[in-house]
Amino acid sequence: MKIVVIGSLNMDFNFKVPYLPTKGETLKAVSFKTTPGGKGANQVVALARLGADVLMIGAVGRDDMGKSLKQSLLNDGVDINGIKDVDIPTGIAFITVDGVGNNTILVFPGANDGVDFEWIYNFSEEIKDASYVILQLEIPLKTVINAIEFCYKMKTKVILNPAPAQKLPEEIYPKIDILTPNETELSILTGMQATRDDEIIKAAQSLINKGVGRVIVTLGERGCFYMDEEGHDFIEGFKVNPVDSTAAGDAFTAGFTVALAECMPVKDALRFAGAVGALTVTKSGAQESLPFRQEVEEFLRGQVK
Ligand code: RIB
Repeated sequence: MKIVVIGSLNMDFNFKVPYLPTKGETLKAVSFKTTPGGKGANQVVALARLGADVLMIGAVGRDDMGKSLKQSLLNDGVDINGIKDVDIPTGIAFITVDGVGNNTILVFPGANDGVDFEWIYNFSEEIKDASYVILQLEIPLKTVINAIEFCYKMKTKVILNPAPAQKLPEEIYPKIDILTPNETELSILTGMQATRDDEIIKAAQSLINKGVGRVIVTLGERGCFYMDEEGHDFIEGFKVNPVDSTAAGDAFTAGFTVALAECMPVKDALRFAGAVGALTVTKSGAQESLPFRQEVEEFLRGQVK
């Protein structure tokens, strides 16, 4: 099973704070650490730890942070031949995490803005042979759109994790097999309120009507919601002690992709993905917190269905 991830790599600057700061406030952090992150890189690491054969396509700067991000992917067995070095500083993210695991993330794309379709095209063969290509929205939108169109031509399935959310051109929706927004991203994509269950159903339906194959909405501790042409359902989440929700969405997307690539039925795949996301919330940091396959399987065995 080969999975290609096209997306971002960031160095995360993580601040543990007593509460999330408000406008105009100066707040003392309790602790600080730098760790590898970026939605694309997080997803590729999660996939690798779950047993997938993965290629990362992206860009870093010619600096120490870039070298360190690539090395940490190598340590996880990721094929990094798709990562180019560019003359732009490596992307960074400032992350604040409060005492109950809630966070805010500020991203400066840097080198991620250097990912263009010409670069992606070098990996046509790998894209053609992949079971899935996963993308997010931390590289230029034009690149994402061109890459989705190319995957569509190559008949390779596309999973788009639309984060950070922005409006997408209407004509791209029919070329997306699976879209994995959270509630906020669903609302931004559709321009509709998406908080209550009935609102989530309506907003997801509007995306299915535009041609998306399947919409999975991650709902944090509540679990997730899925919809395709055959039906829809809410799937309950797992109860865990939250430490840091950073990368939980990335972990979920990766877990769902691996499960589908292994031909699990959709409800089992969502349960598996939910477990991967839940375990990620129990540890701090992005890639540092992503679980290995064995941990996920043990966790699921310990749950009463
Ligand atoms: O999804 C979490 C990630 O968002 C962080 O690792 C940060 O780099 C931002 O991309």
